Amino acid sequence: MNLVPRELMTETAVSSADFRGAMRHLTGGVSVITAGRGKDITGMTVTSVTSLAVDPPTLLVSVNRDASSFPLIRRHGAFGVNILAADQLDVAERFAGRGGLKGADRFAGSQWVTAVSGVPLLVGALSAVDCEVEDIIERHSHGIVIGRVRNIKNSARSAALAYWHGQYVAVDQDEDAARLAEISVPARSRRGV
Ligand SMILES: Cc1cc2nc3c(=O)[nH]c(=O)nc-3n(C[C@H](O)[C@H](O)[C@H](O)COP(=O)(O)O)c2cc1C
Repeated sequence: MNLVPRELMTETAVSSADFRGAMRHLTGGVSVITAGRGKDITGMTVTSVTSLAVDPPTLLVSVNRDASSFPLIRRHGAFGVNILAADQLDVAERFAGRGGLKGADRFAGSQWVTAVSGVPLLVGALSAVDCEVEDIIERHSHGIVIGRVRNIKNSARSAALAYWHGQYVAVDQDEDAARLAEISVPARSRRGV
């Protein structure tokens, strides 16, 4: 495949509004990234966590370089990924900066444990993942942070918190999986033909 060198790329006429409109259609799982250690901690709500590879276990997250988490992730070389459950909407709101909460104050009201790397991990998250920074690719306003997974705590819970069309939605295995199964049945067999 021939790639266009970055210096030859021209500005396109795509507006930010059109781009945001397109991205609203993406349903994103909501996680809270945590960074720092001791009292020098912060974190942020993200939907950009994506699995990169299974072998070795790596994931990536796109972090705004102006976010308070970014310098801490870079300095300590570690971050936590806390995949939120449907009933953790309040945690998502606090770590998105609602109410003006900053840094360690965002952690109040929920229970945290310290990971081997030193970052806080949320008790009751669907999964809490301790990552060591493998690489950070700075591009435009964001840094693509690649994390090598060092430790995972999975819970038996499953109802997840997602974000779609500018609102939080709960994805529940019992109810939604049944509905998904229903719509994925081919029309012919549903009519018993
Ligand atoms: C649902 C949701 C998803 C978000 N996803 C991201 C993301 O993937 N990357 C990012 O840089 N900011 C994302 N944000 C914005 C950050 O959570 C927000 O800017 C945060 O407060 C930045 O932290 P700071 O106040 O400590 O700088 C998201 C916000 C919400 C509400």
